[in-house]
Parts: sequence; structure tokens; C-alpha cells
Amino acid sequence: MSAVSREETERLVTPSTSDMTVFGPDIVAKARQIIARYPESRSALLPMLHLVQAVEGYVTPAGVDFCAEQLHLTTAEVSAVVTFYTMYKRKPCGEHLVSVCTNTMCAMLGGDEIYKRLGEHLGEPRKPLGHEETAGTPGEPGSITLEHAECLAACDFGPVLQVNYEFYDNQTPESAVELVDALRRGEKPAPTRGAPLTDWRTVSMELAGFYPEDADEFQSAVDGPSAAAETLRGAQLAADRGWTAPAMPEDAPLPPVETR
Ligand code: FES
Repeated sequence: MSAVSREETERLVTPSTSDMTVFGPDIVAKARQIIARYPESRSALLPMLHLVQAVEGYVTPAGVDFCAEQLHLTTAEVSAVVTFYTMYKRKPCGEHLVSVCTNTMCAMLGGDEIYKRLGEHLGEPRKPLGHEETAGTPGEPGSITLEHAECLAACDFGPVLQVNYEFYDNQTPESAVELVDALRRGEKPAPTRGAPLTDWRTVSMELAGFYPEDADEFQSAVDGPSAAAETLRGAQLAADRGWTAPAMPEDAPLPPVETR
């Protein structure tokens, strides 16, 4: 959960007079597709917010209005969700979002140093880039938003960072600086695991559930290495030693169902 100032809360919950035409017929059609996935329209809010981010690069007041209108919610209800989850950005994002894990395991292995070095490298002299600040013009090619992140569930590869939620494992301050320099040059270095790197808006559209329709393009958008040796080490150890889980008794009685 992220901290929200009173002014920002007021801005988000006050129905804006903003122009919603940016959410044209194609985006409305996508919104309808998202809503159709759920028995209740309000359940569609999370992917709807990713859709808004794919269109505008962050959750704008117009995006809040759009979600509220499509889902029959109040702007306060939408804003409560936007301000709770850190994946929803309330400031314009760069072409790439770089998330450095600074949780305990990664921090001890060098994550804090990586975050500090990137902030200094991407910032100005004596003014390092801070959390959710952007180097370059947001949305423009080569622009980078930096954030520190809680545990990214990859402690066995720490210290890790993500670019647009794709993993770059076993990082050092030097490798992280090389990575962001490559991003600024317009390159897309291959993640250690996961799908090929795209950009923040494309990945936001994917999080909303929209991928290329062409089968080959879809496959190349999602293909990538998943588990690595570190993840599989326990399973490998068990296989080498012939360890197996005890078989389930065939006629094991079901636990009693409690009724009131
Ligand atoms: S502490 Fe960094 S991935 Fe878990």
C-alpha cells in the first residue's frame, strides 16, 4: 500500500471534468470484454485499471472516471483501489518501469546498493532519482521510472530487479547500470526469465488480458525461460536421493464438515 496525500485523494475522488475521449470505441470495446469475464462488473476493476494505464501511461483522473462509469462505481471506490495497490501509478510513467527489490533478502545481498546506484546514475548531480520518479520525459523512448519494490518472490535469485515486471536475476550495481543504459539506448536486453521485454504500456495491456491475436506473435510475446536451476534444486536433490512424498491413503476419510 502506498501513502497518499490529502490533496491527491481529493483530486482522485472528485469527479473530474477531464476529457474521456481518449478512451475511444476500441478501448470501450476492450472494457466490455473485460467486464464480460466476471459475474459482477465491479470485479473487473483491477484489469480495467491496467487498461487505463495502457492507454494513458498511468491512472489519470479521466481514467478513474472511465472505470467508475463503465463499472457503475463511484470515483471514491475506484480511487480507493488505485491508491491501495502499488502497481497502479498516479504519476506519468516512463517507457520502462525499473523495480529494484529492497526487501530483506535482496537488501542484504546488495539490493539497497543497486537502488542507490541507479538513483544516482539516473538522477542529476546531488539529486538522485527517487521512488517513482522518472528520468527523461515520461512516455518518451528511453525514459525510465525507478521504484523500490517489496519481495518479488525470487529470493533465490537475489538481488533481483524487474523491468516492466520481467526478471533480471543476480544483479550487481554495475550490471544494473549497464541494463538501464541499454534501455535508454532503446535496446531490450533479454530478461533472465520470463517473456521478452516490451515496454510499460504494452505490458499494462497484457495485464489487462490482451495479447497479440496472431498465434505466432502471441507465442513470441509469452515464450521465455521459466524455472531455473536455483528453483529446481530441491526437486533435483530429492530425485538424486530417491526421496518421494508418502502416497495418499486411498480410502482416507474426509474430514468432517462443520455445520452450524
Ligand atoms: S527479497 Fe527480493 S525477491 Fe524476495
